[in-house]
Amino acid sequence: MLEMETERLIIRRFKAEDWQDLFEYLSQESVVKYEPYCVFTEDACKKETINRSQNPAFWAVCLKESNKLIGNIYFQQQEPRDFLTWEIGYVFNPKYYGNGYATEGCKQILIYGFEQQGAHRIIGKCNPLNTASSNLLERLKMRREAHFTKPAFFKRDSDGNPIWHDAYLYAMVEEEWLGFTK
Ligand SMILES: CC(C)(COP(=O)(O)OP(=O)(O)OC[C@H]1O[C@@H](n2cnc3c(N)ncnc32)[C@H](O)[C@@H]1OP(=O)(O)O)[C@@H](O)C(=O)NCCC(=O)NCCS
Repeated sequence: MLEMETERLIIRRFKAEDWQDLFEYLSQESVVKYEPYCVFTEDACKKETINRSQNPAFWAVCLKESNKLIGNIYFQQQEPRDFLTWEIGYVFNPKYYGNGYATEGCKQILIYGFEQQGAHRIIGKCNPLNTASSNLLERLKMRREAHFTKPAFFKRDSDGNPIWHDAYLYAMVEEEWLGFTK
C-alpha cells in the first residue's frame, strides 16, 4: 500500500522533495532528544529523505488540507518474521503537537498492521522520561509490558561515556485489537 487516508491526514511514502519539511523538525534538539540520532543538517536531511523514500518502513504523515508533511511514522517488521511482530515509532513537528495528529496517524498504522499486514503483535518502546511518547502509546490502548533498566544508550556524554537510558515496552496483540474494534 502506498497511501492511506484518515479524517485529517494522508499517510504516504516519502518523496525526495519532502526534505525541507523533514528538516523543519529533525533540526530541533527537543525533537531528537530521545532518538538514536542527533539533529540533522540540511545536507544530511536531503540524503535521509532519499533513504526514507526507498525504505517502506518510513511513512510520511501529511495534513490533508495543506499537504504539509508534519511528521513521520516508522513501522518495521521484526525478526524472526514468523513471529509476525512489527515495531511502531513516530516523530512529529512540534508546531503540530497537541492536536491528536500523532494518535490519528498511528491508529491508522495499527489498522494497516493488524488488518492488512496480518500482524500478530505490535510493539512500541520509549524512554520513561518521554511522557509525550508513553501518553501516545497509552492513547493507542497499547499495554505497558515492561520497564527495562538501562538496556541501551543512544548518546554519549562529553567524556565519551554512554548515557544509559531506561525503556518502557508497550505492546498490543491481535486479540486485543479485535476486542477494541468490536
Ligand atoms: C511523541 C509525539 C509524537 C507526541 O505528540 P503529541 O502532539 O503529544 O500527540 P498527538 O498528536 O496525538 O496529540 C495529543 C494531544 O493533543 C490533544 N488532542 C487534541 N485533539 C485531539 C484529538 N482529536 N485526538 C487525540 N488527541 C487530541 C490530546 O489531548 C493531547 O494533549 P496533551 O498533550 O495535552 O495530553 C511528539 O511529542 C514527538 O514527536 N516527540 C519528539 C519525537 C519523539 O520523542 N518520538 C518518540 C520517541 S520514543
